[in-house]
Order: sequence, then structure tokens, then C-alpha cells
Amino acid sequence: MISQDYLLELHQRSDIVELVSSYVQLRHRGRTYTGLCPFHSEKSPSFVVYPENQSFYCFGCGAGGDAITFVKQINNVDYIEAVKLLAARAGLPLPDERDDTGKLKSRILAMNKETARFYYESLNTEAGLAARRYLRGRALSDATIRRFGLGFSPDGYSATSDYLRRRGYTEEEMLAGGIVKRSQRGGVYDFFHGRVMFPIFDLRGNVIAFGGRRMGDEGGPKYLNSGDTPVFKKSRNMFAMNIAKKSTSRRYILCEGYMDAIAMHQAGFDTAVAPLGTAFTPEQAKLLSTYADELVLSYDSDEAGQKATKRAISLLASEPMKISVLKIPDAKDPDEFIRKFGAERFRMLLDGSDNAIEYELSRARDKYDITRPDGIVGYIKDAIEVLAGRCTPTERDVYAGRIAEETNVTKAALLNQLETRLKQKYRKAEKDRQKELLSEGQISRIKVPYSQGGDKAKGVANAEYQLMAAAIKDPQHLVRVCERLSPERFITPQMAEVFRVLKEVHEAGLPAELATVSHQLSDEARTALTRSLADNYDIRFTDADLDFYFERIEESVPKSSKAAEMSAQELAAYMQQLKAKKQ
Ligand code: UTP
Ligand code: MN
Repeated sequence: MISQDYLLELHQRSDIVELVSSYVQLRHRGRTYTGLCPFHSEKSPSFVVYPENQSFYCFGCGAGGDAITFVKQINNVDYIEAVKLLAARAGLPLPDERDDTGKLKSRILAMNKETARFYYESLNTEAGLAARRYLRGRALSDATIRRFGLGFSPDGYSATSDYLRRRGYTEEEMLAGGIVKRSQRGGVYDFFHGRVMFPIFDLRGNVIAFGGRRMGDEGGPKYLNSGDTPVFKKSRNMFAMNIAKKSTSRRYILCEGYMDAIAMHQAGFDTAVAPLGTAFTPEQAKLLSTYADELVLSYDSDEAGQKATKRAISLLASEPMKISVLKIPDAKDPDEFIRKFGAERFRMLLDGSDNAIEYELSRARDKYDITRPDGIVGYIKDAIEVLAGRCTPTERDVYAGRIAEETNVTKAALLNQLETRLKQKYRKAEKDRQKELLSEGQISRIKVPYSQGGDKAKGVANAEYQLMAAAIKDPQHLVRVCERLSPERFITPQMAEVFRVLKEVHEAGLPAELATVSHQLSDEARTALTRSLADNYDIRFTDADLDFYFERIEESVPKSSKAAEMSAQELAAYMQQLKAKKQ
């Protein structure tokens, strides 16, 4: 049995695009890659590779899976053999012959976690008072401090290492993890001391490094950052990426430093990220383009910031993202701007949307004579349409207030009407999506066993496919599905199997991803799952989508449970009835 950790690492170290490229000529298409399927003969490409979830799927022959599946099928080998081949490619020692570096890495990760906790707890000691004051002075709330796990590295040269030593970590491990440095006299000293600490997380939530800021004007460089270690490469990671990737927004904000990123998150912009004490790198550009459709550069307004902006733009030129540059007036950086003018002003700056909405509203107003009742009705109708478009809830509220004043209609009535319109729009969008899926074939490809209702139950079956795709894409959705439904309730055997495995993996505390579940699935279930992921590649499932699917499933009468509740006699009678109907 190969451990989940090992599989995760193997997947982390193998890029499916790179892997497939050595067999298939791939072309970049938006966020996916397409090519001629290596598993059946075809003239036009229906084989798609999805870098985001590291899967592939052929719309022609239905082959699909993750990197291991690909290696398995292309080389015609069994699962274990495929793992070995892929490991060799990735330069990863095999599980049974893993050398000490594997062990050292996991020791460093565990040590980093303990260190982060130690820093965090040190904030609440007497020695941490100054750090607490410093953070408060920078307007960070307790919730923000907790969310980012900010902390304090105590003064002196051995507080942290003493603590870690008591916890069983060796000097070698601390040196390797960059927590201590060797002194000239041959001993070791804490690399970070007397600083406010910023832990750096990877995408999976491991603490991989630290940044530390001095609190006063003296005491070395303003920021100190961990150097590269066996678990950290600063050019490949980004600050706050672990949080940003969970956002529903695909518009990311790139800023210069930790504090800017944190200030933005606190103000509600949860896609702000920053490089790690170095200039922006090509690897970071790649990383961002995997998650973002749009990137707003939000560097300092000074000359250095403008230079860095230029440099970043040239690095981003080849990435498939819409790039824009934010001009921050009357403040040196986003952090200062938000503190001076507030989050709302910053957001307006960010999408310049205040102009667009106001422009459209004023055009609507000019169309009608709002001194007359019918003019008011017409104006409101158009205005509602504007507000039901690309507006945030705050904007809706603000503009509804203004329209109420102009027209003497109560704001509540306006918001009510707006709500109705939004619901309508949402329902229509969802219906269109279902229709599209129907015609595109997801539904037509789903087979429902006759005993479960056959073709009549396709809507329910489709809901199951959608829910499983949603659960893989977002762990929070998985939690909701687990709370609401059980695998036994599912009518398609493939999705019931997927759900069972996802649930197990989730309950074992592991991330439920293609990498952790795919090898536990039968070929049919895995293919079905990758297909559903492929069909939903561009979709961000919302809670409302989930509700829609839940309702579908719950409103259907489960045939199996109906049968289960019947006595033998009742069942016999029921069967008779069915037979009679058929004849
Ligand atoms: P800034 O000095 O612009 O950061 O450096 P900032 O976030 O505005 O800092 P505050 O507001 O004064 O706290 C931007 C980034 O450059 C790196 C850090 O990663 C920092 O977040 N840096 C800066 C260093 O690594 N070392 C330094 O001495 C200074
Ligand atoms: Mn600053």
C-alpha cells in the first residue's frame, strides 16, 4: 500500500502538462491544453489536459484520469509500475527506498508548525507586548492576526531553539529548516529574534518558511526572510496564496509585501498575494495564472514600485490572464491607502466600476421624465437592470439609496424588486447551464440503472455528478455534501463509489483531491469523475448551486428505500402491480 502522503508528493512534483507533452503535442487553449488523443485514433483533437486539477479527459473515447492513470495507460503497465515510472520521472525516491531527505522534510514541516505556534503564543506573553502593540498600531484585528498566524520571535538568541530542543528537534534539523544559523564561535543562534513573525504557507497549508519584521527603526534589515530549505523555494511560492486560492473571485491582486497583502485581506480582498522578499519570478507568474483569470498589479506608488510593476508586466506577458495596473493616489502603498480612505474607496479604485455604474444610471435617467409617474416606473425598471448586472452587494445598497431619493420610492421597495430580478436571473442562468449540459452530452452519457429509475432519473443522476465535481473542487462543498447526504442515497453506482471514497479520505483528515482518491476508485468511477470534472472545468460552484442539486436529489423518491421499507408481501404485491402495468 502506497501512503497518501507519498502520492500527494508525487503528484505535487509531477506536472501533468509536462508529462503528457512528452507523448502528445499539446496546444494551449485558455486554461487548458488540447491535442490528439494517444488512446484512440482521431483527426481532430478531443483530448484535453487540465493543469488546475491535474487531470486529462478525452471527449472522443472517454479515457481520463490523473498523471498516474496516464502513465499506466500509455505504457500499458499496472498501478504500482506506473507509480514507479512517474516517481523516476519526478526524481522522487520510491516509498520503500526513501532516503533521509524525505524524513528530514517531514521533520522540518513538523518543526515549522511548532515554531509558528510558539511564535503565535509568544504574542500573548509579557515579552510579546511590544509586538502586540506594533500589530495593533498597524490596525490589524485579532481575527486577522489569527487568520495569518502572525506571531512574535522572542528577543535573545536562543528562546526559539531552546523551545524546539525541548520538543525533541536537533540542531541539524533547525539548521536545515533555517530556524537557527551557525555562529562564528561554532554554536547556533535564533535567526529570527525580537521580530513580528509572518509564517508562510504552501498551497496545502504547511508552514514552509517565515518572514520577520523589526518593530523599531533599528535592529538590522526591515524584513528578514527564511532562505531556501528542503521544503521551501521562495521563487516558487507566494504569500497568502493558500487563502486566495479558496476565494470565489478569480481576480487576484499582486502587491509588494506581506503587510499590503494582509491589509487587503482584512479589508475584504481575499485574493491579495505577494512575493516572498524577492522580486516577482516567472514561476510565480505561472502559479498565479493557474488560479487567476485576471491580475491587478498593486505595487507601491514610488519609483521602485513602478519599476517593479514594469518588470512584472513583462514577466506576465506570456500568461493567459488579463493584467491591469492600479494607480494608488495620495498614499505610498495599498496598506496606507486602505487605512486613509477605507476599503470601499479601495474597491472602487480596484474596478473603476463606480464610473461604469454611474454612467449607466445617468443614461437611464436621461431617457425618462422622472417628474411623471410613468417616467419613474421606466427609470426604475432600467436602473434595476443596471444594478442586477455586475454590481457588488454594497454598490446595490448604495445606489438603491440614491435612486430612492431621486424617485421618492422607498429603498426597501427597490431592494425588494432588485432581489426578485436577481433570483430570476440566477434561475435562468442555472437552467441554461442544465440545458447546455443536456445538449453537450453530460446527461446523455450518464447511465442510470433501470432499477434506479432509468432515464427518468437522469436529472437526479446529473445532480450527483455535479455534486461530486463540486466536492473535489472545493473542500467546503464536500463538507456540505457529507452533512446533507450519504453515499447510499446515490442512484448512480459510479458517483456512489466516488462519494464513499471522498468521504473516507475526508474523514481521515486528508485533502480530498484527485490525487488522493483516484487510485482507490474503479476504472469506471474514475473515468466518470474525471469526465464530470472536465465538463465543469470552468464552473465555480456556489452554495446556491449545491442547494439546487440537493433539492433535486431529496425531492426524488429513492426507489431502493421504498422497496426496503416494504414487507415481503407488500413487495410482492408491488411487483405484481408493476407487471400488470407493463402488459
Ligand atoms: P516594503 O518595505 O515596501 O514593505 O517591502 P511593506 O509591506 O510596505 O512594509 P511595511 O509596510 O513598512 O511593514 C516590500 C517587501 O519587500 C521585502 C519584504 O517581503 C516586504 O514585504 N523586504 C523589504 C525584504 O525582504 N527586506 C527588507 O529589508 C525590506
Ligand atoms: Mn507599507
